Amino acid sequence: MSDSNVLEKFYKYVDENQDHYIQRLREAVAIPSVSCDASYRKDVFRMGDWLIGIFKKLGIDYNVEDVGTHELDGQTLELPNILLGSYGNDPNKKTILVYGHYDVQPALKEDGWNTDPWELVEDSQGRLFARGSTDDKGPIIGWLNVIEAYQKLGLEFPVNLKICFEGMEESGSEGLDDLIIREAKRYFKDVDCVTISDNYWLGTTKPCLTYGLRGVSYFKLVISGPGRDLHSGVFGGTVHEPMTDLAHLFSKLVRPDGHILIPGIYDDVVELDETERNTYKTISFKHQELHDAIDSDNSIHENELDTLMHRWRHPSLSLHGLEGAFSAPGAKTVIPAKVTGKFSIRTVPHMNPDQVTKLTTDYLEKEFAKLSSKNKMKVECIHAGKPWLSSTDHWNYVAAAKAVEKVFHVKPDLTREGGSIPVTLTFQEALGGKNVLLLPMGRGDDGAHSINEKLDRSNYINGVKLFGTYLQEIAHIKTE
Ligand code: BES
Ligand code: MN
Ligand code: MN
Repeated sequence: MSDSNVLEKFYKYVDENQDHYIQRLREAVAIPSVSCDASYRKDVFRMGDWLIGIFKKLGIDYNVEDVGTHELDGQTLELPNILLGSYGNDPNKKTILVYGHYDVQPALKEDGWNTDPWELVEDSQGRLFARGSTDDKGPIIGWLNVIEAYQKLGLEFPVNLKICFEGMEESGSEGLDDLIIREAKRYFKDVDCVTISDNYWLGTTKPCLTYGLRGVSYFKLVISGPGRDLHSGVFGGTVHEPMTDLAHLFSKLVRPDGHILIPGIYDDVVELDETERNTYKTISFKHQELHDAIDSDNSIHENELDTLMHRWRHPSLSLHGLEGAFSAPGAKTVIPAKVTGKFSIRTVPHMNPDQVTKLTTDYLEKEFAKLSSKNKMKVECIHAGKPWLSSTDHWNYVAAAKAVEKVFHVKPDLTREGGSIPVTLTFQEALGGKNVLLLPMGRGDDGAHSINEKLDRSNYINGVKLFGTYLQEIAHIKTE
């Protein structure tokens, strides 16, 4: 059968089975597989089991990798299983590794969701609301839907597929780096290239292929002093207050215009040249799309080019939160005895995580010393993932671009992203420089990590078509 016949049948099948696919996503999002909260750990395991159920149904060979334990909220917890799947092993076909994650960010209705975050709700515009819909359950199920469609249609699957689904991505992918390195010459031996669907279009209408991500170094800054919380009427003005020290140090990290104040932090950032600048000029992106995505117009930069560069190729520092501070409603006159500030730095080529930690720690220690405070300060980098860049002239990108053109009738933009997927670079390096591609399913306004996260029905369904078409293209692409 010719390729166009295969795809025609496949598209028809996918269109006819939309509701079945949505039902499958509905089941998946109903499992609150939150990886960063110990009380949901059983649900993360339940989610892994649910996926294994589909692997079995589809005849995917699989290994369930137990990668040990870790510490969270003062407890020792089993790390979620890493699922390795294998579908087909024809030596005449290429072998594609797809990676995705089945854990999600936390969500509470009270955060401002319009609907229950753990129940898929479709609105009149075909938006499928639920935590994990776009990040990353829709995409991982997308791959499984493709396998099922080919089976049901009795079509020959175009490639050998290797699958790696993990349940710890939102918490730094603990355990996965080691597994990839250990299995590089075994389970992942025959892999020709890697595809990850765990990002989003830049805007809401035009598909993209993504070839870069920022890294992230996450810090905890602990200030402690008094042995217990104190009454501010009795002790205010007479003791060094940890919150005051912390607020001061926070203000020394980053300016309100986004400029990072840590000396030397920009030293290793790759300089911008004309060739790179030109790549930004053709990208379809308007500030209006950014403003729509954030429900506000408070962007920092004057023009789109600067916005994209600050998102993709410059580092940034964000202040995330405070542990130990009074945060309930009302007016409690307390002096907290110990506070922990959390912040992270998004890193770019060629920043080095060890150097970032050293510069940050040395600087905070120096600034703290200037306060002559009798409190104690401790800085700790609790997780560091490196930035990643790929080469877009590889056949993997050529195949993906062709697939986009077939499904969406437009050439994709080539984008980078500001977010992080810690194992992207690990795959690239551990598999001996095999090409890695990011092939997004969702849109820029999907609200991953935010309230009312959604995936549009059309992105989900066209995403399944895109994944299948991409694998079909891979089968024929010239690889020299
Ligand atoms: N899907 C995101 C990564 C992402 C975000 C890609 C934005 C493109 C644009 C992923 O699930 C994620 O949230 N990653 C974390 C990683 C961190 C916990 C190490 C992130 O970027 O904060
Ligand atoms: Mn994700
Ligand atoms: Mn995420």
